Amino acid sequence: MKKIIGILLCAALLVTMFASCGGGSKATSLQGAKVGVCIYKFDDNFMTLYRTELEKYLKEKGAASVSVMDGKNDQAEQTNQINNFITQGVDLLIINLVQSSSASQIADIVHAKGVPTVFINREPDKAEQDRWVANNMKCTYVGADASQSGTFQGEIVTELPDKGDVNGDGVINYIMVMGDPENVDAQLRTEYSVKALTDAGLAVNLLDQQRGDWDQARGQEIVANDLTAYGNDVEVVFCNNDAMAMGALQAIESAGRTVGTDIYLLGVDALAEACTAILDGRMTGTALNDHFGQSHKAADVGDMFLKGEKVDPYYRVDYMKVTKDTAQQVLDLLGVK
Ligand code: BGC
Repeated sequence: MKKIIGILLCAALLVTMFASCGGGSKATSLQGAKVGVCIYKFDDNFMTLYRTELEKYLKEKGAASVSVMDGKNDQAEQTNQINNFITQGVDLLIINLVQSSSASQIADIVHAKGVPTVFINREPDKAEQDRWVANNMKCTYVGADASQSGTFQGEIVTELPDKGDVNGDGVINYIMVMGDPENVDAQLRTEYSVKALTDAGLAVNLLDQQRGDWDQARGQEIVANDLTAYGNDVEVVFCNNDAMAMGALQAIESAGRTVGTDIYLLGVDALAEACTAILDGRMTGTALNDHFGQSHKAADVGDMFLKGEKVDPYYRVDYMKVTKDTAQQVLDLLGVK
């Protein structure tokens, strides 16, 4: 009797184990793997470049299928998409979270189903990364260190002949146009751009700081309002990304101001239109947010998971400072003719 109960218990255990594995990994490398990609929203200039390159590279590496979903900036919607991918039996997930604070909830879901997951672009906090290691969870993050891009923005200002102090009164009056403040990229770029100025011994004065949520139209609106409110006092406009900087440029030009002469404008990403504006002298600088390097690394790390190799909790891809001297080189790199 005891033997029979034992056998039944073992069988039940096996069934539970299989069930909890869901549709998890069958592929043993990217070759032939089914990959699910979740993007926080399709309507984002930078993430559009990123996902296009990611899809292309995954296919080059032999993925059997690559399915890319639009999270429409809605975490509940994205969580559903992740659950659907798991039900469909994807071998690997690559996730650009809508909310980085949802990382632990999502990591628990994918871990329970045994699907290795590479988080990209929106960085989960350190405690969450430590939890993956402590619990042997097949989760990792591939991204860039946003403090570096902020530092580059500030350094570009310190390297100007007047160090951003257009009116020579000894203080740099600036405005800050932020991305979504929940996002580490927005927080660190905001902090480190200004830190580079104060570290260089320069005095700064914040005229206004607003959230533009990474969006060009919002960037334009915020900077137009600030130029009306503060007029010629505005010397430097920091934008957490190039999309907002492109909006800021429209506002600056319609206010009759001239970048490089009576105002400076900084972004991050190195979108082709920003690099072109820098070459034309209509923008001061940006930092290359390397979507080639990041998307390739994300896919390569996914491959390592599938091959059963050891994977670190965090992979960092460097930014590059972009000014008039390097903008053409970056355009060449981006393949823009
Ligand atoms: C980019 C932004 C983008 C955001 C999306 C940032 O790293 O610089 O352009 O909107 O990621 O999360």
